[in-house]
Amino acid sequence: MIAMQGVYKTYPNGVTALNGIDVTIEQGEFVYIVGPSGAGKSTFIKLMFREEVPTKGTIKINQMNLPKMKWKQVPYLRRDIGVVYQDFKLLPKLTVYENVAFALEVIEEAPKSIRRRVMQVLDQVGLKNKARFIPDELSGGEQQRVAIARAIVNHPKLLIADEPTGNLDPDTSWEIMKILDEINASGTTIIMATHSKDIVNTIKKRVIAIEGGLIVRDEHRGEYGYEI
Ligand SMILES: Nc1ncnc2c1ncn2[C@@H]1O[C@H](COP(=O)(O)OP(=O)(O)O)[C@@H](O)[C@H]1O
Ligand SMILES: [Mg+2]
Repeated sequence: MIAMQGVYKTYPNGVTALNGIDVTIEQGEFVYIVGPSGAGKSTFIKLMFREEVPTKGTIKINQMNLPKMKWKQVPYLRRDIGVVYQDFKLLPKLTVYENVAFALEVIEEAPKSIRRRVMQVLDQVGLKNKARFIPDELSGGEQQRVAIARAIVNHPKLLIADEPTGNLDPDTSWEIMKILDEINASGTTIIMATHSKDIVNTIKKRVIAIEGGLIVRDEHRGEYGYEI
């Protein structure tokens, strides 16, 4: 479970990105984060894996108190969280296989079981036959599927996606959504910031709208609610 209470974030340059956020997200939920550019969506997301720390307020994820967490504890938090970005962020010189294997926390696992796990997630995203390709040899949608495989290879409880379909055409976006929906169906919480009206209005989920650093709407099976 994720619980934020009275969360504020002011960046060092004086810009206040979040203005008092209170929210609870249960394990297994699928939540869209919508709102205009600059509303605070990415900041909200970054707080969850301690990419940023709040100026004020409490953030709890599965009993861990993020603002008070020591640096050496952060890897334990991140072990349970997968992150997917709009621009994929793959390592360009590594193969698809290596990009995914690299992210695997190897805790005394036999090389054979590592290989099995990597091939299993590549199969899950439909890329088993491209394991030896490098990112440049793939389409945008395929690259995003590699990024998703990398994000889930450790079996995280939470998958965070910041505009994962932002660089993709509509058909490819639907493919990505199908994969995210399947991951959610297996019990992983998904929090996804998006500007896609079509996706939000078609694949109905909880919708949290952020404007000016505040949650202005929070609806079960909500609508996108903006024109673009
Ligand atoms: N690292 C940063 N330093 C200073 N200001 C930032 C930083 N990141 C975001 N901001 C500002 O915080 C506000 C919210 O940004 P962001 O969370 O990225 O919104 P969104 O993802 O909804 O577009 C914006 O005014 C943005 O310019
Ligand atoms: Mg953003």
